Amino acid sequence: MSSTNTQVRLAARPSGLPKASDWEIVEEPVPTPGEGEFTVRISHISLDPAMRGWMNAGASYIEPVEIGAVMRAGAVGEVIESRHPGFAVGDHVAGAFGVQEYAVSDGAGLPKVDPSLAPLPTYLGTLGMTGMTAYFGLLDVGKPQAGDTVVVSGAAGAVGSVAGQIARIKSCRTIGIAGGEEKCRWLTDELRFDAAIDYKREDVRLALREHAPEGIDVYFDNVGGEILDAALTRLARGARIVICGAISQYNTTEGFKGPANYMSLLVARASMTGMVVFDYAARFADAGRELAGWIADGSLISREEVVEGGVRAFPDALLKLFAGENVGKLVLRVGAG
Ligand SMILES: NC(=O)c1ccc[n+]([C@@H]2O[C@H](COP(=O)([O-])OP(=O)(O)OC[C@H]3O[C@@H](n4cnc5c(N)ncnc54)[C@H](OP(=O)(O)O)[C@@H]3O)[C@@H](O)[C@H]2O)c1
Repeated sequence: MSSTNTQVRLAARPSGLPKASDWEIVEEPVPTPGEGEFTVRISHISLDPAMRGWMNAGASYIEPVEIGAVMRAGAVGEVIESRHPGFAVGDHVAGAFGVQEYAVSDGAGLPKVDPSLAPLPTYLGTLGMTGMTAYFGLLDVGKPQAGDTVVVSGAAGAVGSVAGQIARIKSCRTIGIAGGEEKCRWLTDELRFDAAIDYKREDVRLALREHAPEGIDVYFDNVGGEILDAALTRLARGARIVICGAISQYNTTEGFKGPANYMSLLVARASMTGMVVFDYAARFADAGRELAGWIADGSLISREEVVEGGVRAFPDALLKLFAGENVGKLVLRVGAG
């Protein structure tokens, strides 16, 4: 075992895309657990668009990361030392361990994960936070009915790829919006979406008219901005818009662009509802079982893209999300796990 714990700390609040000087790489001794605690050797760290928001000052659904603090991140790892009766050496756990190699935890609310049932990165994706977001955002907020037309933006990403597949499993007509031909082909050919729209090449509004002639019943929005505005022009009566995220706006230096076409909510008697995955924590275990069942019977494909390089690679790896370089869930490998 190494005696140092390499950490990535927030050095400055970014303007626009985070840059190298917004981070500080620090080496500390590996922490030892107190009574009722354990030490985790982290194997994989989750890379999430939301991290950009956590770097900003000001109130949100969660406290900002303080300057000088270890960057907040979901992660999985193995217990290597324990003074906790519920966690033994060799157990694998998921938790908000931060961008570092080792973490100490009291285990409160942390799920154990089983690497013999699914690869560890899957517990950060489809069986983790992004899968839960897709599941509850689509089913609880979007409330799709069989035969509905469901449109998902950011469709080739971690949340979007799962949300679209759940819509297909629920017998909806499923249309994905993603950047690039290869991603669109993956959506239709492998994930069995009914149609995919390449927003970098196509006019999204016209393409929605073609692929959703009866209008959109559920729009699951991961990106905001112009794509949200285009979707607003094609709503079916009683449509539900799930506001899951707005990645197109996270690095703006000119202020968030809100939807201009919101009056179509009135015309369509539609609703637009924000959701935060943490509100569904009490139901994560049940959702995880259902998602795992769909993976096992082949109805849902889970894809993770694992970046190598350890925690020092974190600042560059995070930027891949904003450049659209990932397909499926983006994860950073830390240890050998
Ligand atoms: N509400 C919640 O509780 C909750 C929880 C988790 C995640 N989220 C949100 O869900 C969304 C997806 O997160 P994720 O983890 O699944 O990330 P992701 O979709 O795996 O990765 C981000 C993707 O966003 C797309 N993108 C980047 N810049 C864009 C732009 N300017 N316009 C349109 N698309 C752009 C890229 O795909 P393309 O190549 O297609 O552009 C990129 O691959 C994010 O908005 C995130 O904040 C919300």
